[in-house]
Amino acid sequence: MYALAINGSPRKGGNTEFLLKKVLEPLKKAKWTTEIVQVGGREYRGCVACYKCFQKKDMRCHGRKDDFNALMEKIVKADALICGSPTYFTDVSAELKGVLDRAGLVSIANGALLRGKIGAAVVAVRRGGGTHVFDSINHMFLMSQMVVPGSIYWNLGYGRDKGQVEGDVEALANMDHLGRVIAWLGAAMGPVVADYPRPAKGFGGES
Ligand SMILES: Cc1cc2nc3c(=O)[nH]c(=O)nc-3n(C[C@H](O)[C@H](O)[C@H](O)COP(=O)(O)O)c2cc1C
Repeated sequence: MYALAINGSPRKGGNTEFLLKKVLEPLKKAKWTTEIVQVGGREYRGCVACYKCFQKKDMRCHGRKDDFNALMEKIVKADALICGSPTYFTDVSAELKGVLDRAGLVSIANGALLRGKIGAAVVAVRRGGGTHVFDSINHMFLMSQMVVPGSIYWNLGYGRDKGQVEGDVEALANMDHLGRVIAWLGAAMGPVVADYPRPAKGFGGES
């Protein structure tokens, strides 16, 4: 099993990365392959709505020449996707928003590539707005037929400066629990059911 963590913070070694690593620890112990991909501060830009992904159906985004398609290949392989973001004016970082939009659309264009994957949102926040970030990430997961496990409480860690989140012991316990739940869920899930009947029109980007 393969868990892919996406770090939406441009601050390498910051609070978001710390929280993501906490989630991955129990997964490693459960013999999952784990990886963190740095997205914040790198070339991951927004969707340009060219809809070429619907024409080509090759699991790629054709709107931009940046780092996205290499990440999309990893996303397609992942059993669990853990997206982490700092809280930026009550929302995800710009780079992570670009990834969420483009991965979501490429998934729909190719017959639901994200279907049946486990999805978890992890948020670093100084004071307020973290639940909105949590929602932004989970919205994409939930409209992509992904399965979203809960944890003990909120998947939020408090801190402003690099490393401050280490002092939020409740958050650390929550992240450890989240990793354990993902490991349990991954072991419990059967093969993805891909043939649920769907209305012919209006769903998932089809006109
Ligand atoms: C542009 C910007 C906007 C921010 N907006 C908020 C905010 O709305 N609410 C909040 O509590 N913290 C806000 N913060 C603080 C970060 O969310 C906080 O420092 C977080 O721990 C950073 O995580 P990182 O170390 O992974 O980058 C903001 C920080 C920046 C740089």
